[in-house]
Amino acid sequence: MTEAARPASPPRGLFISFEGTEGCGKTTQMRLLVDGLRRCGFAVTSNQEPGATSIGRQIRRLLLDPAHQEMSAMTELLLMFASRAQAASEIILPALARGDVVVSDRFTDSTLAYQGAGRGLGFDTVLKAHRIAVGSLYPHLTLCIAVDVETGLNRAHHRNQTTHLPVTETRLDQQSLEFHLRVSAGYQKIAQLEPSRFRMVNGEGDIVSVGERVWAEVNPLLCKTYDTQNTNR
Ligand code: TMP
Repeated sequence: MTEAARPASPPRGLFISFEGTEGCGKTTQMRLLVDGLRRCGFAVTSNQEPGATSIGRQIRRLLLDPAHQEMSAMTELLLMFASRAQAASEIILPALARGDVVVSDRFTDSTLAYQGAGRGLGFDTVLKAHRIAVGSLYPHLTLCIAVDVETGLNRAHHRNQTTHLPVTETRLDQQSLEFHLRVSAGYQKIAQLEPSRFRMVNGEGDIVSVGERVWAEVNPLLCKTYDTQNTNR
């Protein structure tokens, strides 16, 4: 997977994804960014993986139900891409064709990190499945919110116990610390392979400071894509 080998994304809109290990705060950062973009007048479409579409939500339940301990790594991989293929055709591609900014809570980099590195299926297998499922669709910019893996995992476990999150969504964050360390190493490998698209953002500190780091990454690309001046939220 080299920069040159990565196929171009479709023209017009701008596709941004958020990535990170469990409890890194990416969903909060994504919401902040979406709100900021809308305040600036951009048309924004959000996506979540797995999930987002009606079919995707059923796939998400299958994937994250802790009762499904017997699920094989390959089943997991293919279900992730089944959800993604549906989201691509129902949500992402139409929004990009309209010229929207699409902001996605996870995309194929999650599959590279979790199934490729975490489960040990390898990046090549994941990228082959990617081509079959969504062809050349890839984010223009990916922001990986980097926090200490163990601290984030503890935060995610605490959140699962104390909030309204359905207990049926815990199968993957219940994996061992070693698994999550492999996921983190997977993200670091992607950052080395694709430094211009895949940016590590320091996720330590308060929400507003992290949000400013996110905005600093997004703003130049917004200006380039939509020919705007530096945008103040
Ligand atoms: P979320 O908690 O960020 O919504 O993600 C759901 C879980 O699914 C999380 O543990 C990461 C995992 N996941 C994968 O293992 N592979 C993937 O391709 C995606 C999108 C998510």
